Amino acid sequence: MSHPTPKIVRTVADLRAVVRGWKVAGERVALVPTMGALHQGHLSLIALGQTHADRTIASVFVNPRQFAPHEDFDSYPRGEARDAELLAGAGCDLLFAPTVDEMYAPGFSTAVQVSGVSEPLEGAARPQFFGGVATVVAKLLIQAQADVAVFGEKDYQQLQVIRRMVRDLDLPVEIVGAPTARAEDGLALSSRNAYLTAPERAAAVALPTALKTAARAVAAGGRVDAAEAAGQAALAAAGFGPIDYLEVRDAGDLSRLGPGPIGAADARILVAAWLGKTRLIDNMAI
Ligand code: PAF
Repeated sequence: MSHPTPKIVRTVADLRAVVRGWKVAGERVALVPTMGALHQGHLSLIALGQTHADRTIASVFVNPRQFAPHEDFDSYPRGEARDAELLAGAGCDLLFAPTVDEMYAPGFSTAVQVSGVSEPLEGAARPQFFGGVATVVAKLLIQAQADVAVFGEKDYQQLQVIRRMVRDLDLPVEIVGAPTARAEDGLALSSRNAYLTAPERAAAVALPTALKTAARAVAAGGRVDAAEAAGQAALAAAGFGPIDYLEVRDAGDLSRLGPGPIGAADARILVAAWLGKTRLIDNMAI
């Protein structure tokens, strides 16, 4: 069935005009920031936003500032018509789809940097990434003046960086983390899964399997170093490489845990690894 597309606005002024009308009517507003190429995972974020608010906005903006020059900014999957239809089907009220010039006017010279939690893991592998994410998310939160914003736990470190930023800058918004949506075989849904060949897609199940096995071993009192080594070996055996990281970390500030058992610590296991030309990330609670 095809649905009417949601209202699309492309400027901050138009976005604010719509949100102002909702707020005058006493309505609570949720924002779901995305880079488009929407899948069921994004739609689960919209659904969660709807449980927290009267109105839900999705933003679609492929943010050049979070890609390094050698990364996939140009080839990142884009398709606004399909995204708009999916959002309409999900009952999303507004699509904010700004241009790069609207977000970054000529002379744009401000950056938001969150130290500590943004430095290891993705921060080490992709040094420009969290600066770009924090800057654009700060802008989106201020532009939309949402009461609540929803981010997927699939990008767990991103979620923790955004929580830290919102706390540090006193941004008046509640950040909600949404559980990772997974395919039947356990692979986390991701727009980048579209890059996988059929044999790679079949092999990719090793990623959630390795995480689950390692998480169980650590939860049962096993050593962190042994679980990490076993997980990395399982990924290599399945054809992954290089493995940027597969590590057990503190679930809050992402500091290193181990090498022995974690005791009562609240821990998370996180992975980033290449399968052919595609870099996949995933994580699980321990
Ligand atoms: O997770 C994403 O899709 C992006 O990093 C985000 C949060 C929309 C910022 O560009």
